Amino acid sequence: MKALILSGGTGTRLRPFTYSIPKQLVPVANKPVLLHCLENVRDMGVTQVGVIVGSQEDQIRAVVGDGSALGLDITYIPQHLPLGLAHCVLIARDFLGDDDFVMYLGDNMLVGGVTEAAKVFRTQRPDAGVLVTEVTDPRQFGVAELDSEGRVTAVVEKPLEPRSNLALIGVYFFTPAIHDAVARLRPSARGELEITEAIQGLVDRNHRVTAEQFTGYWKDTGNVDDLLDCNRVLLDTLHSDGDRGGVDTESLVLGEVVIEPGARIIGSRVEGPVVVGAGSTIRNSHIGPYTAVGRHCELSGAGISDSIILDGASIRDVLDIQGSLIGRWADVHVGDSHPRHRLLVGDHSQIALPA
Ligand code: G1P
Repeated sequence: MKALILSGGTGTRLRPFTYSIPKQLVPVANKPVLLHCLENVRDMGVTQVGVIVGSQEDQIRAVVGDGSALGLDITYIPQHLPLGLAHCVLIARDFLGDDDFVMYLGDNMLVGGVTEAAKVFRTQRPDAGVLVTEVTDPRQFGVAELDSEGRVTAVVEKPLEPRSNLALIGVYFFTPAIHDAVARLRPSARGELEITEAIQGLVDRNHRVTAEQFTGYWKDTGNVDDLLDCNRVLLDTLHSDGDRGGVDTESLVLGEVVIEPGARIIGSRVEGPVVVGAGSTIRNSHIGPYTAVGRHCELSGAGISDSIILDGASIRDVLDIQGSLIGRWADVHVGDSHPRHRLLVGDHSQIALPA
């Protein structure tokens, strides 16, 4: 079995970050979402992986490389325009050959992995298998309708009146039967080749399409609130190795706190679960639970909790920051000589000040 990981797209819901970083590289608990996903693929015993990349290909390559560090053999497949999930299958045709494959959306987090579902697919080998989970608002997703034996009778993309609460969650198992179904597609109303319609095509032609219910934690990390939620869930599984090397005697470190090499905690209070990235300095600050501090960050006189801080960011003398995502090399500070708020805010940024 091969894998096809989708790591293109524009990430409009994660602007302004996605102007400069692909959404799949935004870190959750200090690791890019895409790496979480590649680890799950590796755990399925798959090594040949095609990664679909868009205009931010260079950044993905810089992080993932040839895959050898993860035990994977990666082939990059460029997609020049985001023309849909099924379009990805179309342009990966040469890479996929006539092998079975798992297609995995590179911005979906499935905590605990999907090895069990892969095992079921390999043993039963239906023509296609989808992973589904119960959601409260199915209208936001592709929705699967099943018969009593778990066989898919219909799949509908973002239905206005859903007939089931089972959402497709970004992991699909395919046999080569999918290629013919993709070849028959026409662009949808949103101008994309929809994988949901290709799967419906298989159902219509009496192919066996099955669904496995995923009961672990799943999130499409397409927006900030979902990313922060994921961050909390992963940090909750954190186990500190007890290394307090970079912590001075004036500091208090409580709970599960992972301090990466070269990070320093000076005169600060850190309440886990928290991860502090390599080379970061936390000085006279209060880091509250569910905060992931990236690498080479500088926090001084800062108070922050329930947030993700990306590499190289700095926060000086600003307290009570919560539920925030702070981009790479961003600088948040109390104005030196400015008596009023001075804001250098990029396109589509959001700033929420207390009322
Ligand atoms: C895509 C799929 C949808 C699926 C979702 C899961 O939606 O089209 O069927 O439920 O991913 O994340 P999109 O994120 O492109 O709107």
